[in-house]
Amino acid sequence: MKRPKAPKQIPVEDLSPIEAAGELAALAGEIARHDKAYHQKDAPEIDDAAYDALCRRNAAIEARFPDLIRADSPSKKVGAAPSEAFSEVRHARPMLSLGNVFSDEDAAEFLAGIRRFLKLDSDADIELMAEPKIDGLSVSLRYVDGRFVQGATRGDGAVGEDITRNLRTVADVPDKLLVEAPNILEVRGEVYMKRADFLALNERQAADGAKIFANPRNAAAGSLRQLDPNVTAKRPLSMFVYAWGEVSGSDASGYGGDADWPTQGAFYERLRAWGFTVNPLARVCKTLDETLAHYREIGFKRQALPYDIDGMVYKVNRIDWQRRLGFVSRAPRWAVAHKYPAEQAQTEVEDIQIQVGRTGVLTPVAWLKPVTVGGVVVSRATLHNEDYIAEKDIRVGDTVVVQRAGDVIPQVVEVVKDKRPKGTKAYTVPDLCPRCGSHAVREEGEAARRCTGGLVCPAQAVERLKHFVSRDAFDIEGLGEKHIQAFWDDGLIATPADIFKLAERDDAFANREGWKEKSVANLKAALAARRKIALPRLIYALGIRQIGQATAKLLARHYGTLSAWRDAMDAAQDRESDAYKDLVNIDGIGAAVADDLLAFAGEPHNREALDRLAEEVEVEPFVDARDMTSPIAGKTVVFTGTLTSVSRNEAKARAEALGAKVAGSVSAKTDYVIVGADAGSKAKRAVELGVTTLSEEEWLKLVGG
Ligand code: IVH
Repeated sequence: MKRPKAPKQIPVEDLSPIEAAGELAALAGEIARHDKAYHQKDAPEIDDAAYDALCRRNAAIEARFPDLIRADSPSKKVGAAPSEAFSEVRHARPMLSLGNVFSDEDAAEFLAGIRRFLKLDSDADIELMAEPKIDGLSVSLRYVDGRFVQGATRGDGAVGEDITRNLRTVADVPDKLLVEAPNILEVRGEVYMKRADFLALNERQAADGAKIFANPRNAAAGSLRQLDPNVTAKRPLSMFVYAWGEVSGSDASGYGGDADWPTQGAFYERLRAWGFTVNPLARVCKTLDETLAHYREIGFKRQALPYDIDGMVYKVNRIDWQRRLGFVSRAPRWAVAHKYPAEQAQTEVEDIQIQVGRTGVLTPVAWLKPVTVGGVVVSRATLHNEDYIAEKDIRVGDTVVVQRAGDVIPQVVEVVKDKRPKGTKAYTVPDLCPRCGSHAVREEGEAARRCTGGLVCPAQAVERLKHFVSRDAFDIEGLGEKHIQAFWDDGLIATPADIFKLAERDDAFANREGWKEKSVANLKAALAARRKIALPRLIYALGIRQIGQATAKLLARHYGTLSAWRDAMDAAQDRESDAYKDLVNIDGIGAAVADDLLAFAGEPHNREALDRLAEEVEVEPFVDARDMTSPIAGKTVVFTGTLTSVSRNEAKARAEALGAKVAGSVSAKTDYVIVGADAGSKAKRAVELGVTTLSEEEWLKLVGG
């Protein structure tokens, strides 16, 4: 892992408010970028210590300049900087598991055992609370004086992990109880992710080339165990509460007093009043028949529920009976889980096809011989990415076990190897995009393979064209996203050059809704005005992955003209070339950015699209406004102390205009330190390092007034 070079830092006490504001802005951006790299891409660029240093610096600057704390400050996002790991929480009362039953007979035997234990008549009715068993993760929430103070995972039942900050981001976890409660109240329940939220999350993950979760449970687990609560906050989690732990004022056996909640049902009423969410399908059943009927009814509804369940839980409703029944090893004698059968089926893989997403990610999909799984006909299953296929060795012709993971997305669980026909071949994801034929590349550390034909690929084109005309790119007034979509749908535009061709195509506007003579004329004028374009805008407009405005400008400044840039990209395809070394040497461009640039530039379809565009527009060479002939061009300067004739900002701007780099702290690489009044440590450091120091007057003389 890269360690960033020791950052040149001004001591916090030497920062001017303007410097502080600038640095806070930079830190907010940088920390957010690292958060994303770490949590969403699983590809951290810096190690934990370096990350912590950034957060500490941010906190120190904010402590000195509280007025400058930004709305998007990393310290403001739920909780603070991520911790190294979760600390341990010892549960005041153990968190238990449940015994399972798989049939009506087992369920009857569960009740018979209870009757024997309690010495009840063999036909005595026992009221049960019957409720769905949520496929999530159990957590414990601790409230003191009505306030949520600590949340923990179940862990091994005795000791869990402190995930308080993450649980605070869960909407179903009230921060404050709505009505009077015991001083200490621990409640327990299941955190889960709704199917729809899970699907949306996986879509976002896929678009980012990030980890795909196998089912809602895994997604919920991954989200809850995030070290950074900001990430958890973006993952929609829900919670049902169904049990209690420590409750002050309760008796020694750990139950809320019978007077408080004599039944499980009464407890649920209390939970609701306090502001918790209790599963609305929980029902008190008076007899076993009623209980089993409820089991079956929920079983029918199971597919349609917004979340995954894997059974029903039956709990003796009377708390005094629960207390008498107690526990056998780690499960209560008064509760049991009645499982639903796993919903799986076997079928054949008829084909494996590639889908190309809006961002160019290639997703392999299995085309299955239709089969019913849990009441739903399944004919496709996502295979996620090439690693997934390789790991399970899924081949066309194989018989596979499919499962509705979370009963939503059909999944291939495994290959039935015994049924593999002769002559099958291991599947390889193509390295050409099936939609446009461009190269599809997989970058190091990424699971996804992406199409590089951004400008031409029909799967991506509309998004790219929208970007192309957007404000910071070609900024074509009067041509909004809706228009782009409509022209695209009608086959009038496919690549950027076609947008300019619209000006010559009156047929494109005839009878088209929303286009009148005037708006057509305006659009033509707007297009004409953009036939001359600055190089940085053009590069940015191409929508190359990772090339934002700042990087586009770096490239433009470095290469000067479109043709010089294109030639250099061609030459740099050879990673041994000087052109490549030159590219990755540009401050702000690393190997990863270079990979994306070269993938784009090396793709023949993109080259052709760019050739066509170059016929339509004139790309102005980059004009470097800096005066590189000045005596300070290329030098690194540091200002310290108060300048009398100009503000620090003006002095900096002037130095930059003259081609100098203005740094915040003094190092051996510094050329000049300009020492104003009341200068502090930096002036001293300059002397120590033998760096030339200049008085304000000397400086003004050097830069010409
Ligand atoms: S009651 C002593 N109710 O299932 C109370 N558990 O397999 C024991 N679970 O660890 C738990 N939904 O994580 C209960 N409605 C529900 C549940 C439920 C899911 C989980 C819970 C427990 C596991 C046992």
